Amino acid sequence: MPPEKAELRYGEQVIELPVIEGSQSERAVDISNLRAETGLVTLDPGYANTGSCESNITFIDGEQGILHYRGYPIEALAEHCGFLEVSYLLVNGRLPNRAELDEFTHSIRNHTMIHEDFRLFFRALPKDAHPMAACSAMVSALATFYPDSLDPRDPTEVEISIHRLLAKLPTIAAYAYKHSIGQPFMYPENSLSYVGNFLRLMFATPCEDFVVDPVVEKAVDLLLILHADHEQNCSTSTVRIVGSSHVNLFAAISAGINALWGPRHGGANQEVIAMLRAIADEGLTGREFVERAKSRDDTSRLMGFGHRVYKNFDPRAKIIKKAAFDVLERLGIHSRLLEIAVELEELALKDDYFIKRNLYPNVDFYSGVIYTAIGTPENMFTPNFAIGRLPGWIAQWLEMHEHRHKIGRPRQIYTGATQRAVTKIDER
Ligand code: CMC
Repeated sequence: MPPEKAELRYGEQVIELPVIEGSQSERAVDISNLRAETGLVTLDPGYANTGSCESNITFIDGEQGILHYRGYPIEALAEHCGFLEVSYLLVNGRLPNRAELDEFTHSIRNHTMIHEDFRLFFRALPKDAHPMAACSAMVSALATFYPDSLDPRDPTEVEISIHRLLAKLPTIAAYAYKHSIGQPFMYPENSLSYVGNFLRLMFATPCEDFVVDPVVEKAVDLLLILHADHEQNCSTSTVRIVGSSHVNLFAAISAGINALWGPRHGGANQEVIAMLRAIADEGLTGREFVERAKSRDDTSRLMGFGHRVYKNFDPRAKIIKKAAFDVLERLGIHSRLLEIAVELEELALKDDYFIKRNLYPNVDFYSGVIYTAIGTPENMFTPNFAIGRLPGWIAQWLEMHEHRHKIGRPRQIYTGATQRAVTKIDER
């Protein structure tokens, strides 16, 4: 049995700190009373060593490269389940039976349209607006259309907001894209699957029939499953911390979308393709690029490599790499970008710099290759990630509200000037 308490010696004081153990034997020292007992706070920039909550949603073992949602290995979920089934699992805590999944799917289908007036919002945006900015603005604006269902403590209002969000985010993301290319917005087609409908919203026009390609549908469904949750990452922590003020769900998710946009987080999938294209177009060799990524004089990083938690292969990257080969073969596409990605991976995995720092391909390294092969424009990669991550954000937000929680409010160590006198403006 590991000790249940840790001791901290500070001057003459010995403070006993409870040790909390998780269901997978992860241990944490509970420091929540430390300041009250000693006046000390803890300092952990980037929260690299700080657990912000207890959670029973997602388990990651970064050393072993293991990822489970609600106890199920990601590999098994990717093989046997669809995205809405996984969404149900994350949001409700258990896999649905057939009737439950049908009911869930039916309810989500019923909410895919957005209000006609809401469509006009898109017109106000410049054509070159990044779709992530449009998505976060539009999700935030959903609160203006549904003032009757904003109370995070009312289960009925919460449930309808969850279904609305899951249903409408693909519509919103697709409209952001359609607006950017000046094409008419399609209405959702509820006889299609969740992903089939999204593909039609993205790629169909009113002048031609659109047939969903099952290879593409399955590939996107898989990508959404693989992105569906990843415990306390930057955007999820954002959703929790914003949600901890008891703001409505739309506002918290909108904040999460903004956090995801950054190139060190979900925005990396777009950056990976930009990097692969630059290598292809500028005639750089993979070796030259790897050297650039290592150099302290160059700010380039090998995008799609490295992870705060995985110090071994990201299990999602393994599945996506295999899917990339499968999808390209089934679609009969030869991809130079995939060849460059494989070359970069091989070079990096043999390179001391990457080996010493435990830098492996992450979820973003190969996903863009698939998205490019199926015709998704680069600026839509991260909105696709957001659609995938949505059930995870929702599950984490719900879990926070199910437990007693404090408003998120870290401390700091102040390093600025001590008290100074103000001199009047003309005397400075
Ligand atoms: N290329 C080159 N060097 C790297 C890379 C990379 N991709 N990633 C980390 N390093 C180096 C970094 O320079 C540092 O070196 P040193 O110790 O000499 O200063 C060391 O590795 C540790 O890096 P860090 O930034 O302190 O590590 P972190 O855990 O804070 O960052 C990360 C994790 C994902 C932000 C980072 O690895 C990175 O920027 N990767 C590229 C962007 C990317 O692919 N992001 C997607 C992450 S996975 C999906 C998601 O979260 O959305």
